[in-house]
Amino acid sequence: MSSPDLSVQNHPTQSGEAPIVRIRGLVRRFTLKGVLNGVDLDIRRGEFVSILGRSGCGKSTLLRAIAALDHEATGSGELIAPERQSVVFQDARLLPWRRVLDNVVLGLTGPDADARGRQALAEVELSGRELSWPSELSGGEQQRVALARALVREPQLLLADEPFGALDALTRLRMHALLRRLAERHRPAVLLVTHDVDEAIELADRVVVLEAGRIAADVTVALPPVGPARRDRFIALRSQFLGLLGVEADPLQGWTDPVAHSSQDSQALTAG
Ligand SMILES: Nc1ncnc2c1ncn2[C@@H]1O[C@H](COP(=O)(O)OP(=O)(O)OP(=O)(O)O)[C@@H](O)[C@H]1O
Ligand SMILES: [Mg+2]
Repeated sequence: MSSPDLSVQNHPTQSGEAPIVRIRGLVRRFTLKGVLNGVDLDIRRGEFVSILGRSGCGKSTLLRAIAALDHEATGSGELIAPERQSVVFQDARLLPWRRVLDNVVLGLTGPDADARGRQALAEVELSGRELSWPSELSGGEQQRVALARALVREPQLLLADEPFGALDALTRLRMHALLRRLAERHRPAVLLVTHDVDEAIELADRVVVLEAGRIAADVTVALPPVGPARRDRFIALRSQFLGLLGVEADPLQGWTDPVAHSSQDSQALTAG
């Protein structure tokens, strides 16, 4: 089993291609409390990056800074991010007085807005629920509406703050498969904040660990597609990340191949 290199790596973009997110020396503080203490991070076009870190380490603060939603914070540093970006949170944040399709297309302009909204709902496998009220949907269905609302805008950057944190384990696996399919189809850059080490490894091209206000590790996942090499790499990464997060756990405990699961779940989702 080979150990991944967890030193901070440089991810230079290929010549001529600027990163879609560029962060240098980002500092953020709330009143007297410093949270981000010099974060450097690049995200390339179409790249999927997960952020792990202990509770309170500043993951949401970083995401909110990128989304320009951090009006309470003060700080400094360089931050370049695309304007065309969407955010998904742990709760779906649908407007309860608007039907599902209206929630998806809210603020969209153009004569084809409704058609695009219907298409987005079809992509999250909610065709037929256009006229439902949010309260008539399950938690997982509401999160799928939130994903449709995010993706119908064809964002260059999708910011997701623990979007599956409130879902049960099986629904979460189904959502992983769905998000992977959607990301492959639409190719936004994705920044996913999660507490779930397996989720981070399974979904991302790169996993970043935030600690003490800085990036403590930045690792290219590079899972082999199948076989024992995939399993070994997954377990090695899991073990290293758990160690960095200060979690004492058997990295083999509860091992299942998330890809095998996700494809079964995605079939179940399609069938259901
Ligand atoms: N609006 C705010 N005002 C004051 N302090 C804040 C504010 N938002 C966040 N903080 C503080 O900044 C620190 C980082 O918060 P943040 O929400 O970024 O953590 P997190 O890594 O996302 O944690 P979790 O994993 O629990 O969601 C915390 O100590 C928090 O109390
Ligand atoms: Mg948070």
